[in-house]
Amino acid sequence: MSLVDRDRKHLWHPYTQMLTQPDPLPIARGEGVYLYTDDGRKIMDGVSSWWVNIHGHSHPKLNAALAAQAREIEQVIFAGCTHRPAVELAERLVNVIPAGLNRIFYSDNGSTAVEAAIKMALQYWRNREQPQRTTLITLHHSYHGDTVGAMSASEDSLFTRAFAPLLFPVVRAHPPYCYRCPLGLKRATCQIDCLGDLARCLQENSGKTAAVLVEPMLQGAGGMIVWPAEFLAGVRALCDSHGVLMIADEVLTGFGRTGRMFACEHAGVTPDILCLSKALTAGYLPLGVTAATEGIYDAFLSEDRGKTFFHGHSYTANPLACAVAIASLKLFEENGVMARVQRLEQQLRNGLEPLRGMAPVGDVRVIGAVGVVELEGDGGYLDQIGPRLGAAFLERGLLLRPLGNILYFMPPYAITDSEAEWALQQIREVVGGL
Ligand SMILES: Cc1ncc(COP(=O)(O)O)c(C=O)c1O
Repeated sequence: MSLVDRDRKHLWHPYTQMLTQPDPLPIARGEGVYLYTDDGRKIMDGVSSWWVNIHGHSHPKLNAALAAQAREIEQVIFAGCTHRPAVELAERLVNVIPAGLNRIFYSDNGSTAVEAAIKMALQYWRNREQPQRTTLITLHHSYHGDTVGAMSASEDSLFTRAFAPLLFPVVRAHPPYCYRCPLGLKRATCQIDCLGDLARCLQENSGKTAAVLVEPMLQGAGGMIVWPAEFLAGVRALCDSHGVLMIADEVLTGFGRTGRMFACEHAGVTPDILCLSKALTAGYLPLGVTAATEGIYDAFLSEDRGKTFFHGHSYTANPLACAVAIASLKLFEENGVMARVQRLEQQLRNGLEPLRGMAPVGDVRVIGAVGVVELEGDGGYLDQIGPRLGAAFLERGLLLRPLGNILYFMPPYAITDSEAEWALQQIREVVGGL
């Protein structure tokens, strides 16, 4: 039996309609930006393996860090124990994340980083004797993960509807989705008027709001929506003026994806709580971080043990994952990775802008190492154009996974100029032929 036949017999894949989906790709190995299949195909990873890979697959230095750590300690309970990789990673992180976030709480994926952030915000207010502050304000088109709290915070959508009875209510405000401006305005002449909706939500929930949770600069799974930095600055200012916490979900945007090490840097803001995962370990192992200010942390310090943050996971601060994350941060320094991302951004812009105005292209958006082509129409995630495009690119040796009518290219930063140029050419040809 082939690997795919054996897979078909026992496996159930994520976000996959098992009855109608084509066979999965049998991946045998990876190197740089390429995946190699069992049956001899070489395929470029244009989605960074679900947005996690940044330095390329099977990187020798990351492999070495992982092997070295496995020889020391592979995993140990993180309540009552600590270890060098967890401490060293925390020391390195507080030096690169927005200034003021001094406390690192580990978990084990993006959804859990968000769950921990939401719980931390609510308990912060409870410990500060304001237990009535329980409302969470999020944005339309947001995606924060698939656990129940993260789903509640996400847009009410196809992804969450079946679970609606489990979800807690949140208040949702307009995002700055300029191509489909919620106010019908044009970015060239607007005053970021869409922020008014967040101001209204804060006003109407005055005294009840715990936190505003956003994906800064780039809303990912909800449509690859790129923000004007002024909106992000406005979110911070509104949180300050209403005295509520700001949570930045940088699970996707963290570690260079938007052209800055962290998306919050585009507006020079520090959130009260920051969520990280995905590229944290360069795509090697699951690890989550919820970073907080010293002010948040202080609210949990008490002689009363009931004020403890009761949250944790078996694999919290897994030493293997922490060791690879440290090695990845070193690569940023050694290889001038951020300069590479900025060059890639320019290349994506030059390569995709020619599609603007061409039917059926509605919008072209580029930020950092993400290039987006939004096609006209609004079939949403289930738009048949998505799988059709995916199949057309795969035939050419490029792995892309459009979100319905929203096509995006999000390669590892390690992609070379000529590899990126090849991929952009495929995108221009396929989209141009629609
Ligand atoms: C912004 C954002 N937050 C949270 C998550 C959830 O991360 P995970 O899939 O690791 O649970 C994702 C995943 O795509 C994401 O893009």
